[in-house]
Amino acid sequence: MPETLALHGGTPAVPPGAVKPWPPIDDVDRQMVMASLEGDVHTFGPNCTALEQEFAAWNGNRFAITTNSGTAALHMCLAACDCGVGDEVLVPAYSWSSSATCCLHHNCLPVFVDIDFDTMNIDVDKIEAAITPRTKAIIVVHLHGLPVDMARVMEIANRHGIKVIEDACQAHGAKFQGRKVGTWGHCAAFSCNQNKLHCSGEGGMFVTDDEEMLAKARMLWSFGETRTPAESRDYHAYALGWMYRNNDLTAAFGRAQLRKLDWYLECIKENAIIFHEALRDVPYLILPTEPEGCEHNWYNYTIRFDMAALGHEEDASAFRFRLVEAMNAEGVQTGVWQSFILPAMTVFQAMNGYGQGCPWSCPHAAPVNYSLDQYPVAQDHCNRHTGLTNPLRPPNGPEVARMTAAGIRKVMENAHRL
Ligand SMILES: Cc1ncc(COP(=O)(O)O)c(C=O)c1O
Repeated sequence: MPETLALHGGTPAVPPGAVKPWPPIDDVDRQMVMASLEGDVHTFGPNCTALEQEFAAWNGNRFAITTNSGTAALHMCLAACDCGVGDEVLVPAYSWSSSATCCLHHNCLPVFVDIDFDTMNIDVDKIEAAITPRTKAIIVVHLHGLPVDMARVMEIANRHGIKVIEDACQAHGAKFQGRKVGTWGHCAAFSCNQNKLHCSGEGGMFVTDDEEMLAKARMLWSFGETRTPAESRDYHAYALGWMYRNNDLTAAFGRAQLRKLDWYLECIKENAIIFHEALRDVPYLILPTEPEGCEHNWYNYTIRFDMAALGHEEDASAFRFRLVEAMNAEGVQTGVWQSFILPAMTVFQAMNGYGQGCPWSCPHAAPVNYSLDQYPVAQDHCNRHTGLTNPLRPPNGPEVARMTAAGIRKVMENAHRL
């Protein structure tokens, strides 16, 4: 007797309530947030300064600046790298929108590079062809927590005299050749939003080892001022600045979570290994890889469907959503992370950043081309992936990983019924 899919009235593989939410909250979080609440400073305060020092030490950077988002930290990276009007910045064609829109914030033009199917990251072999005399920086995104081959990226960038920004928003603790991401490029951005492995609700972190870059990023961070709230401020805008500071309550939460981050990373890795083994012989799945020299943090365990074998090459994206729907009915917490490639987003197709074509129409800029046939791999990935986060994260353990894998197996073995 074939199993009845939960979508068709069968029993779900993962019972309701089995998967616990992220992040786990304990007395350390409660005590630190309450202590901040009962303290005198709720804006940028002592927890912010402590978080900066603790995060820099944890990641192995000389300097860190705590921000109110990963996007703010990315924008600060562009300023730190002296990117400006009309400069081009290379960005992978598949990522979170702000990996590319951060360029617009600083009057630069993103130039998209297709991704590599196996790693889902920027295709390092295609970087050099995208470099022009206007290229100022490359933003590499360690997507879903898998590091980019930073040795090759740095070699290319150094040879062309361009800066490297790491978008490590999803990649806390991931390592390339044994070295943490965020320590390879000239500067890096991390996100601490609700979904991230180092989570404080919202928030971000700018990191660098370069004192001059630190000063440039800091100026942008607090109204164009040169002195921080911890110093005596003169409230003078020396340059165009934003308000990207973090606050003490959020930083207190971030400090509490940072203490548990290494343990989280270990649990996630153990769960991911169990999950991966349990999925190995499930039909029609393309499982993620961890190339030699890379240590994944398994922020998002992303699978792709073999749509040719399923007979759904023509309607890949629609059938993928059908598979995801069936998995969700089984209690499998999976979802399509991004269903648009970046250059297909309206802001780029319409070039409608600041209005009237700006910044693309700026007299200092050269035309860039966002025709979509340049990114076939990103589009193919986009059409047939789905990902998982919470089921592999503590407090969920191996049992949830196994149940989730069983739910996926059930759907895939019955895919012809959908
Ligand atoms: C790859 C990537 N870059 C940038 C960001 C932006 O981070 P935030 O939401 O903290 O601004 C995110 C997360 O949302 C992300 O996943």
